[in-house]
Amino acid sequence: MLGSNTLGNGWVVPADDAAITAAADLLRGGQIVAIPTETVYGLAADASNADAVAHIYAAKGRPDFNPLIVHVHDLAAAEELAEFGPLARQLAEAFWPGALTLVLPLREGAKVAAAVTAGLPTIALRCPAHPVMQAVLAKSGLNLAAPSANKSGAISPTRAEHVLASLGGAVPMILDAGPCKEGLESTIVAIRLENIEILRPGPVTTESLQTFSKRQPSQQTGQKIEAPGQLASHYAPTKTVRLNAQIAEDGEWLIGFGTVAGHDNLSPTADLAQAAAHLFDALHRADASPYRSIAVADIPDKGIGVAINDRLKRAATR
Ligand code: TXA
Ligand code: MG
Repeated sequence: MLGSNTLGNGWVVPADDAAITAAADLLRGGQIVAIPTETVYGLAADASNADAVAHIYAAKGRPDFNPLIVHVHDLAAAEELAEFGPLARQLAEAFWPGALTLVLPLREGAKVAAAVTAGLPTIALRCPAHPVMQAVLAKSGLNLAAPSANKSGAISPTRAEHVLASLGGAVPMILDAGPCKEGLESTIVAIRLENIEILRPGPVTTESLQTFSKRQPSQQTGQKIEAPGQLASHYAPTKTVRLNAQIAEDGEWLIGFGTVAGHDNLSPTADLAQAAAHLFDALHRADASPYRSIAVADIPDKGIGVAINDRLKRAATR
């Protein structure tokens, strides 16, 4: 028998070869499967199958104006779906497989369900580094649409248990490969006129994009929501969140960083990569604690700290 059924719904299965084969079969049959990636767990479906993609939207309760990232096995698969200019190719070669999503012009005739791009003339593509996601892509031969495997607007999952708690019986199979290494969703960039526009900060930092491309990336500004992961309230716990806290006030669960000890600490040594990897798990635990509200220590706004603060700001907005 595969896996365990700890909450009585939804199957958490260790991501071994048999489970990966079973997941690929489910996906080819138009089902959804939760799969670990190096950033967060994704809720995957065959990107070319409109019914399968509709299952993702239904399970997440996601507003359908919000397009999905398509995960590809390699650059060749990506080039069948989007138009790559020189800069896009350079970034893909430098950062793939990895935590960078490229928003590029959709190729004419690309085999992608309309709901994946939500009618936009562009498509978001990522070649993930996680061996389990890579194995499922290879085994299924599909391109996989996969948003984070949580209810729309809730905290992203960095462990199989988070997926089970958020989506439960809505997912027939959850592949478990332990905690995600990066812990924050991929950096999303749009390439326009050979310029890099950052739509969502993430593990691939502005500094490293600048170093590799020898140009200064711009941040998306203005009101238009292009990456709705960028809605003001997102990644939100059910409790209020207070930022830049030094000490816990009455009824608060404090998530510390460095010398701000807290009930929990994102990184006692003030290591930002470690803090990123622990952030969502810490928010899940804070939300589940008996405390009334959540406070979070100040996080330096540099390197991946920019992405951590981006998520924290949205978690604190309601
Ligand atoms: O790390 C990640 O990126 C994870 C893992 C599972 O790969 N996925 C993820 O997907 O975070 P999701 O669906 O939660 O976030 C996708 C973001 C959304 O904010 C969406 O609006 C944006 O990508 N997006 C998708 N297609 C787009 C497009 N054509 N133009 C602009 N933004 C797009
Ligand atoms: Mg998400």
